[in-house]
Amino acid sequence: MLWEMKKGAYRLNQSVMRTLSKTLKFTEPELLSGAGSVRRLPEKVKAKGISKVLVVTDKVLMGLGMLDGLLDGLKENNISYVVYNEVQPNPTIDNIESARKLYIDNDCRGVIAFGGGSSMDCAKTAAARVTNSNKTVSQMRGVLKIRKPLPPLFAVPTTAGTGSETTIAAVVTDPSTHEKYAIMDTKLVPIMAALDPELTIGLPTHITSTTGMDALTHAVEAYIGRNGTPYTDKNAEEAVKIIYENLEKVYKDGKDIEARNQMLLASYKAGIAFTRAYVGYVHAIAHTLGGLYGVPHGLGNAVVLPYILEFFGGSSYNKLAKLAVAAGLGKDGEPVEVLAESFIDSIKTMNANMNIPTGFKEIKADDVPLIVKRVLKEGNPGYPVPKIMNAEECTDIINKLMLK
Ligand SMILES: [Fe+2]
Repeated sequence: MLWEMKKGAYRLNQSVMRTLSKTLKFTEPELLSGAGSVRRLPEKVKAKGISKVLVVTDKVLMGLGMLDGLLDGLKENNISYVVYNEVQPNPTIDNIESARKLYIDNDCRGVIAFGGGSSMDCAKTAAARVTNSNKTVSQMRGVLKIRKPLPPLFAVPTTAGTGSETTIAAVVTDPSTHEKYAIMDTKLVPIMAALDPELTIGLPTHITSTTGMDALTHAVEAYIGRNGTPYTDKNAEEAVKIIYENLEKVYKDGKDIEARNQMLLASYKAGIAFTRAYVGYVHAIAHTLGGLYGVPHGLGNAVVLPYILEFFGGSSYNKLAKLAVAAGLGKDGEPVEVLAESFIDSIKTMNANMNIPTGFKEIKADDVPLIVKRVLKEGNPGYPVPKIMNAEECTDIINKLMLK
């Protein structure tokens, strides 16, 4: 009875948030798309009257010379730049504060985020701190806590998964508590994004697969949740279709430039869907395991996704059946249950085909209560999931995820 009342309160909270979110004005970045699009970005930066930028990236990309085209283009357009390349796989508050300091010390006028989700989220949060000096990063945690607009922010994703180039979210890690949390504000959406498949050609296969599964998780969680709209549903369906047509293709042949291009578009569309419709428990678990053990975000989502869909069972069958049709796994009119289950099975098959495990060796039995606490803190009532999970059900799933 108590649990039923609690669930009712969660649903009430979610419907209030859904009504509020309909009043928000979401923007989308101006898009540059296709091979070579990153080289067109500097002239766009210049056209905005910006003469000095902070470029936020990581050492690996810098070492591989991936930024050369962008930096040469900035020079050719007489735009000075400073590079912050210390972003860690899960960006920390120190990373964000160092990037912000570099921006201020060098009197920059705009920020270019170059990299995967970590670089983009670090750049977004550092830009937010530049104009919101009275709030710490942890004070921005949650929804709509950023007061002043960011400096002009440009995004260049080098993985096809996070969708951060079009989302209102930035995920940061607090190393003191090993906790990952999200900052969500419409002001965090970049004004421009370059989706250049040439930058994703050299990705290692395990990054290609897991970031692609992150994008799939965004589309699925947005689609089956209760905050979807016709616009987010359309983007989620398109993302799923593209991912099923291209992800295993790029996993096998990373140099397939058109398939790489399609995956960037899928990631972007999935980003459009989830930034408005939210994610769900898959992300809550992936964030918790990322914070506690450093499990990469995409890997966490890929592994957890089928378990959560099985937990939802019939509550998401209608939606999953539609996704199965979008994915080309069946046809409209076939039994919903059969289609939905074929969709869940296909995720397991994709994971297996791409050498993604079925659980995590990192999870320690002693940590399970803490994991459950954090997952439910993130998920309830925040995520408008099709079926609300309690501590017992969550414990059961975490136990299933534990590999010996
Ligand atoms: Fe994600």
